[in-house]
Amino acid sequence: MTQDELKKSVGWAALKHVRPGTIIGVGTGSTVTHFIDALESVKHQIEGVVSSSEASSAKLKSLGIPLFDLNDIDSLDIYVDSADEINEKMQMIKGGGAALTREKIIAAVARKFICIVDTSKLVDILGNFPMPVEVIPMARAWVARELVRLGSLPEYRQGVITDNGNIILDVHNLKILDAVALEEQINNIPGIVTVGLFARRGADVALIGSEQGIKIID
Ligand code: 5RP
Repeated sequence: MTQDELKKSVGWAALKHVRPGTIIGVGTGSTVTHFIDALESVKHQIEGVVSSSEASSAKLKSLGIPLFDLNDIDSLDIYVDSADEINEKMQMIKGGGAALTREKIIAAVARKFICIVDTSKLVDILGNFPMPVEVIPMARAWVARELVRLGSLPEYRQGVITDNGNIILDVHNLKILDAVALEEQINNIPGIVTVGLFARRGADVALIGSEQGIKIID
């Protein structure tokens, strides 16, 4: 199976977690695109969705799936999203698609985070994939210096402006042994909007697509 076929298998498998009459949080990226296709098949049974990016919103709209503003709802049953890396503790690196801030907000609101990934994303130690951080543009150089001081190598993601009008630094050279502590430490640097480490609020269920089928961790 190709990587995209594995992504499709978990995108459709996530439908099992969608309960009729609820509002669903929807992530961003190529794996989630398959979930959105799957969601279309039950669009008359759900109330609608909250989207984590302009890209996902455009696709959801084109399929006629009702979109809600997060401010207009009290709670979310589930949030379905992928990750760039996930470990056995269900901690993740996210933000490869630059949507990390809205993703983290929706994940915080949702009762359950369902992470859908192909098996290449499952790692023992987080940090091989460069960890994205969303930064206020005027703070770019300062934040980069602070990240270097911590022993990492930040790289400016050229030509990318997030849906919130900010920039992305991709942080290399990290071997993340205490993800909760690092998330807190980096969150405390002024100018950083969001760190793409989802450790304090990790996933509750992971659906991992492989040649052998879908492995579920919960
Ligand atoms: C977007 C994300 C994505 O979930 C992550 O980058 C994985 O993407 P894909 O499904 O395309 O492999 O965090 O900000």
